[in-house]
Amino acid sequence: MTSQPADIGVLGLGTMGANLALNIAEEGFAVALHNRTTEKAFDLREDNAALADNLLPTETIEDFVAGLKSPRVVLFMVNAGAPVDEQIDLVMPLLSPGDIMIDAGNADFNDTVRRTKRVEGSGIHFVGMGVSGGELGARHGPSIMVGGEESVWRQLRPILEPVAAQYHGEPCVAWLGTDGAGHFVKTIHNGIEYADMQMIAEVYGILRDGLDLKPDAMAAIFADWNTRGLSSYLIEITAAVLAETDPDTGRPMVDVILDEAGQKGTGRWAVIEAQKLGIGATTLEAAVSARGVSSRRTERQSAAGLYKHVAPAASGFAGESAGLSELEDALETAKIIAYAQGYATMAEASTVFGWNLPLGDIARIWRAGCIIRSRFLDDIAKAFETGGTVVNLLQAPSFVERVARGQAALRQVVSKAALAGIPVPALSAALAYFDDYRRSRGTANLIQGQRDLFGAHTFHRLDKDGTFHHQWPAIQDS
Ligand code: 6PG
Repeated sequence: MTSQPADIGVLGLGTMGANLALNIAEEGFAVALHNRTTEKAFDLREDNAALADNLLPTETIEDFVAGLKSPRVVLFMVNAGAPVDEQIDLVMPLLSPGDIMIDAGNADFNDTVRRTKRVEGSGIHFVGMGVSGGELGARHGPSIMVGGEESVWRQLRPILEPVAAQYHGEPCVAWLGTDGAGHFVKTIHNGIEYADMQMIAEVYGILRDGLDLKPDAMAAIFADWNTRGLSSYLIEITAAVLAETDPDTGRPMVDVILDEAGQKGTGRWAVIEAQKLGIGATTLEAAVSARGVSSRRTERQSAAGLYKHVAPAASGFAGESAGLSELEDALETAKIIAYAQGYATMAEASTVFGWNLPLGDIARIWRAGCIIRSRFLDDIAKAFETGGTVVNLLQAPSFVERVARGQAALRQVVSKAALAGIPVPALSAALAYFDDYRRSRGTANLIQGQRDLFGAHTFHRLDKDGTFHHQWPAIQDS
């Protein structure tokens, strides 16, 4: 153990932990390192000689904690779930009042709330912190979503601000609210990430199966779209993935990759929380469900055989020349609707959990560093700056204009895809939500009638105040 006291300790040196530790060290902070397999900590210093002075590997958890400046700051970057609790069990007895534990992994915010309660009364602080940006983000600047006590954020700020991504000189890190706020926002970020990726994949499906384009041609289209309203990291990497060639076969890389998407659970958590809050995050749901369907490949293949005689009614996209700008507009419009759903979920959570989430700041810290970074997030930030209370992005004046302009394209694409038999679950969920959300007279009156008939659940009337029950005719089974 070296005698230089460390500013922060990073526990868990997998891809994200190691890269974040290097990032912090590069910003001039001394970082104590510990990992269950202790060699990893020593290897990290050896492999990064330029930062060696700031990388302080340790053999034991006791040395790791003892080597930290007081108040001690321990950042956990371990797998979500039980491993976090196991590490807290090991570290907490070695800490003193005033010390800070940060869980920087992708935690379920309910666990973060529970862990925050667990430390209550001990004087030790617990911070749930969402970190986005993958390996490169962690190394060179992620977007960081901080939860916990505001006073603790003030203590951590000098380390986190330089470590975070910078958007035109503004650090992409903010304190978002108490206990689980940071991890909740990260979960919704991931839900939006799923929807964004699914919608892009659906458009890829149209380009491939509707317009019969080859990956290199598609790469050029996405690269072109990346210069305008859709400009984002995800569109940029889509172009890069489509342009790649498999060195083994010489075929486009995307053509040799199995069509089964994995998932670690954060998208699903986002959907579960949206449902619990009564928010229809239907594009996020469609994206999570589509990953589920994708993973049932054998089943899909047998269904394809069973339905091979089902010919699409029309090949909606064939021979389309004006189709590309329509697709671009449709994707942009659907994306706005997906973000509106994610933001609506955060707005509701903010009220229910008493977080007072700064929705504009969230857009600001997502403008760089994170996976969903895009030009469009700057528009969202502005909508919150200028729009007063934005109940839903679909009601923010700048977005009303954009969605009103783009909805016809979305409608065309969804209907052509339906006729061509090309599945677009997230794009069509976006359109259905938009049409449902903007309809002043819905159809739930009928549902209320049904509920009142079979269960005397009562209903409200348009013309009178109060709660009513009607004597419906008795329906006997025939
Ligand atoms: C990020 C990402 C990251 C997530 C991966 C994979 O913000 O850096 O959201 O946290 O783990 O994107 O997620 P899935 O395996 O669930 O697709």
